[in-house]
Amino acid sequence: MTTSETLHQGPNLKLSPEHEMIRQAARDFAQNEIAPVAAEFDESGAFPVETIQKMGEMGFMGIEVPEEFGGAGLDTMSYVLALEEISRADAAHGTIMSVNNSLFCYGILRFGTQAQKEKFLKPVASGEAVGAYSLTEPMSGSDAATMRSRATREGDVYMLNGRKSWVSSAPKADFILVFLMTDPDAGHKGITAFLTEPGEPGFSLGKPEPKLGIRASATSEILYENYRCPVENRLGDEGEGFKIAMAVLDAGRIGIAAQALGIAVAAYEASVEYAGEREAFGRKIGQFQGISFKLADMKTRIEASRLLIYQAALAKQRAKDSDERYTLEASMAKLFASETSMFCAHCAVQIHAGMGYSKELPVERYFRDAKITEIYEGTSEIQRMVIARHELGLR
Ligand code: CAA
Repeated sequence: MTTSETLHQGPNLKLSPEHEMIRQAARDFAQNEIAPVAAEFDESGAFPVETIQKMGEMGFMGIEVPEEFGGAGLDTMSYVLALEEISRADAAHGTIMSVNNSLFCYGILRFGTQAQKEKFLKPVASGEAVGAYSLTEPMSGSDAATMRSRATREGDVYMLNGRKSWVSSAPKADFILVFLMTDPDAGHKGITAFLTEPGEPGFSLGKPEPKLGIRASATSEILYENYRCPVENRLGDEGEGFKIAMAVLDAGRIGIAAQALGIAVAAYEASVEYAGEREAFGRKIGQFQGISFKLADMKTRIEASRLLIYQAALAKQRAKDSDERYTLEASMAKLFASETSMFCAHCAVQIHAGMGYSKELPVERYFRDAKITEIYEGTSEIQRMVIARHELGLR
């Protein structure tokens, strides 16, 4: 187990030796194994099976899950450090890792029964299987409580029917945590969570989502047509689904913030290098104020994002498995880091100019990948709403 107390050190923030080691291991792996293939997978849109398998072997697919359930038994700081490094090499790998760790494993770890942990958590946390999470529907995104999919209890099973969209990792998933209405008249209190298996009858994949970025992370619609879900695969009680979905998203948003930071850092590092090499009008372009001020703003926003992410990670760690919420910290980290990511990727393209627009360099990929971090797991508008409601005492 690592300690993260050492991080509360003000401006001279220093990682503990254990956290440094985890970051270095993730960095070495990401730079040696992922970075060289990132462009190829972005181009083809194929799911990077081999590197994801290796990430499982390294413990990156269930970082915070105790070893008895197949995970690495580390803390949230370890998770955000590793996820930043993986995403710095390739954001699509970051998405797959984040969904597996936060949206699937965390939900079962926190709300699952012992039997559910054995059956669903162990294989996914150890990286032998892939997990996914499905809340969104074609007509229900930000206003998640308005979903139309239905689950009706018939004896020992629930009959699941409905269409879900934008499900990250769905085409490769062995298990999907899905949310459906069991009592449509009860609004958000009528939503229930289920652990489903795509191999079972009644499940099918819908259209693949054609995406601007994170193209190597497979995303599609999914359909349930009289899918029989045994009662023992219900996660939590009937009607508890919305709160489970939201609590899981609190964890997920910290992951997306770390992913966004990784993209921002990659865009920044490429820009510093280019600004120190490229010449115009007899000078390195970094010597022009128009470029150097961009670099200064990128660096400052990156470090501010990092602090918000570490704050959120520590808040989640303090909450452990209790009902204590870290919603505010998670939303602030996600909001600021994702907008930083887009800002840095935008600056990076501008600094590289023609080369930033070219597929010969990864900068245009950072630009395409950064955008999703302002959208999924709650848009920037939703994060602002959550933060404002908290501050106004309206939650
Ligand atoms: N933790 C625990 N409970 C929570 C909670 C949280 N973070 N947030 C809300 N709740 C509870 C509230 O306390 C309330 O409980 P009571 O009924 O007991 O009072 C209940 O849930 C309803 O809360 P609200 O009234 O605030 O609900 P709302 O309908 O106004 O919605 C919202 C709130 C924040 C806008 C929410 O709908 C939301 O987060 N929307 C965005 C959804 C989202 O992020 N979707 C992305 C899906 S995943 C994805 O992106 C794809 C992928 O695969 C990566």
